[in-house]
Amino acid sequence: MLHYITINIDGADIKTPKGVSVLDTAIEYGICIPHLCHVPGLSDIGACRLCIVEQITNSHSKITASCTLSVQDGMVIRSNTDKVRKLRHNIAELLIAKAPNSRAIQDIAVRCGVKRVRYPFRNENCVLCGRCVRACSELWHANALGFIGRGKERHVERPLNIRQEFCKNCGYCIQLCPMTITPCDGPIKPGKEYLCGNCESQLIIAEETSEKCVWCELGKGFNCARYSQC
Ligand code: SF4
Ligand code: SF4
Ligand code: FES
Repeated sequence: MLHYITINIDGADIKTPKGVSVLDTAIEYGICIPHLCHVPGLSDIGACRLCIVEQITNSHSKITASCTLSVQDGMVIRSNTDKVRKLRHNIAELLIAKAPNSRAIQDIAVRCGVKRVRYPFRNENCVLCGRCVRACSELWHANALGFIGRGKERHVERPLNIRQEFCKNCGYCIQLCPMTITPCDGPIKPGKEYLCGNCESQLIIAEETSEKCVWCELGKGFNCARYSQC
């Protein structure tokens, strides 16, 4: 039997099952906390840091990722403070500098208020979110993909280059990868990167049609597209 507890997010008292994460609770309640590496049903690794919130305890606050934070009775969370927004904006800016050729990342950056990117564009083809690796191992127990290396060398690789023996051709790694959705105008050429804002237009379309934005598709059911306050 589920045991329910009460936590407070952004002033709202929310009853939620014990053991779930703060991010899942917020999403379930309809509070939009931006996230990228979180995939419903898969384990959370806290890779992207976009889901940061402020946890308030005895007048002290701590910034923490909400996807790896389990709910506790009486917990007080603030998801949209100046401090959180500023840090999240910087995280989104770093992400879009790393991967300007992903429309999903563009969506996230625009929704986090990024209009100008102060960091050099790197045009990488992976943001190390680990969505593919976890889908492969946790949904299919295939373990055909894995992280290799540390620091700047860290990347996703097939273990021992024998993917075909392990791979079950489910296609989930590609479906869940935020890098597979290119911007409307196609890949941005090095040196010509810009935030076109088309993804924000996509949000306006979403508001009119109740469709989901690219990010929501990746989030599988995270129906926050109607809100622009993220
Ligand atoms: S297509 Fe292959 S490598 Fe990709 S998630 Fe499925 S089993 Fe893993
Ligand atoms: S390949 Fe795609 S899904 Fe996998 S870690 Fe990189 S960005 Fe994430
Ligand atoms: S969604 Fe929480 S760190 Fe990425």
